[in-house]
Amino acid sequence: MERLKGKHILLGVTGGIAAYKSAELVRQLRQADTEVRVVLTRAAAQFVTPLTFQALSGYPVPTDLFDPGAESAMGHIELARWADAILIAPATAHTIARLTHGLADDLLATICLASSAPLALAPAMNQQMWFNQATRANIHQLKERGVHLFGPAEGDQACGENGPGRMLEPEQLLQQLVALFTPPFLAGVQVMVTAGPTLEDIDPVRYLGNRSSGKMGYAVAAAAQQAGAEVVLISGVSSQPRPERVKCINVRSAVEMHETVMQRVHQCDIFIAAAAVADYRPQQQSKQKIKKDYSHLKLELVRNPDILADVCALADGPFCVGFAAETERVVEHAQAKRVAKGADMIAANRVGLPGSGFEGDENALEIFWPGGGTTLPLNSKPEIARQLVELIGQHYKQTGK
Ligand SMILES: Cc1cc2nc3c(=O)[nH]c(=O)nc-3n(C[C@H](O)[C@H](O)[C@H](O)COP(=O)(O)O)c2cc1C
Repeated sequence: MERLKGKHILLGVTGGIAAYKSAELVRQLRQADTEVRVVLTRAAAQFVTPLTFQALSGYPVPTDLFDPGAESAMGHIELARWADAILIAPATAHTIARLTHGLADDLLATICLASSAPLALAPAMNQQMWFNQATRANIHQLKERGVHLFGPAEGDQACGENGPGRMLEPEQLLQQLVALFTPPFLAGVQVMVTAGPTLEDIDPVRYLGNRSSGKMGYAVAAAAQQAGAEVVLISGVSSQPRPERVKCINVRSAVEMHETVMQRVHQCDIFIAAAAVADYRPQQQSKQKIKKDYSHLKLELVRNPDILADVCALADGPFCVGFAAETERVVEHAQAKRVAKGADMIAANRVGLPGSGFEGDENALEIFWPGGGTTLPLNSKPEIARQLVELIGQHYKQTGK
């Protein structure tokens, strides 16, 4: 989260059920060494207490525009100038309407009007409120004015309905803030990322799989999008939330992933193969569930297509980045893999250690390219992904592909 270090974030919290999640957002922002000042609307204070946010942010939490206790009585101007960015999370339909019309009827709305800092909204509301013509028109106008929209996500809502209107999770909001401070060095570049495991069916209920969670590939897709690229994510079965503004295509087997990649790869400039693709699949898939009738059962396996090698071999192909998951002699195996496949860059991680690699939230990478390499020491997967994408961007531009 280097990009957020030392930044001044003004977090506005408005009166929606999702307000409780904003406490966790403040905690995560503080962990990223960000300075956070929180302002609550009067309605927000019905859901969460200023004290919670004061304890988490380390600053008093004003709720009132007219505060005789404030030294200059100009708190709104001070905060408006202090902020490097303003994020309102959750943003109610009511506050969205107030901002659209430039109202300044409370402290938060007045700060927004008085500040030149980028403004981002994380809407959270019932799906009917989100679809209402009034909200649609307000959102349209705010976007036209350059206000950033973080979400909303779709899914189950507190009111029991299902649809768009869920606030993004705190970690997704954090990623969106990182994007706000990231120069768009991949603007106009098409990036394809593969992620997650492939599953090779044995029969209708069993498969051969691997322990990839998809976290690293999803983080790479998000980081490329945040750097301004247009990103297509081709994902094996993964429970990771789809990164914002990334086109996601779900596949299951290695053969399916290979087909999907080869159909679309001609449109991309950079190909990042982060998926853990099965090397082998059962030669035959049983149409019926295999019964427990035998004392021994032999499973014949055949080689799967090699997606990375096939993309690297294309004439006029994209800049190719592979991943190597190794349990031993990481450097040696990764360098050999890069050369064997003809990739422009390879990112190797040691798997099988607790906390990092496939299932963990952190990772460390050894990166190699022709004639050089570097190490990205252990860090959160989003941060490692951001550093990796920056490196890919530099080398992609140097090779002039
Ligand atoms: C229990 C409850 C939950 C609410 N949840 C939401 C919500 O998620 N989103 C929303 O836009 N409004 C919601 N409202 C309505 C807002 O609280 C109301 O419009 C309020 O005036 C918003 O004020 P503010 O935008 O100044 O914070 C809720 C109201 C209640 C009583």
